[in-house]
Amino acid sequence: MEETYVMVKPDGVQRGLVGEIISRIERRGFKIVALRMNFIDEDTAKEHYAEHKEKPFFDSLIAYVTSGPSVSMIVQGKNAISIMRTINGATNPVDASPGTIRGDFAIETGRNIVHASDSQEAARREISIHFGEKESVDYRKID
Ligand code: CMP
Repeated sequence: MEETYVMVKPDGVQRGLVGEIISRIERRGFKIVALRMNFIDEDTAKEHYAEHKEKPFFDSLIAYVTSGPSVSMIVQGKNAISIMRTINGATNPVDASPGTIRGDFAIETGRNIVHASDSQEAARREISIHFGEKESVDYRKID
């Protein structure tokens, strides 16, 4: 069973979209096995986005994700990594289809509401950055 890391970024929290986003994840059939709201500190944000370190938008990206509280989740289910990327829609909301989170609620890449891991390796890495081993819950979901 796959697990992926999902973040409702500070703009999603500010705009009151946490419930909407969690609802879409749950209605799709996924199980949330860890969930937390916190301020992501600068060091954690830089570690999370290390692959973008040389990009021109890196500093504004770090300022954005540390600007307010975020909601972090571990989402579990079959094909969770790729399906969560589909639920979120394209990184640039200009390309995001209606019906996706970004296609319904975002208009610019620098304020694109949600993040989800883009590979198995990224999922493992991001889950370990944001959650300790004992923070996820093992429970049976009745379908
Ligand atoms: P995310 O899915 O979290 O992965 C990397 C993030 O970098 C992306 O969403 C955007 O928030 C941000 N990002 C990517 N490209 C750009 C860009 N051209 N300008 C500003 N932010 C960007």
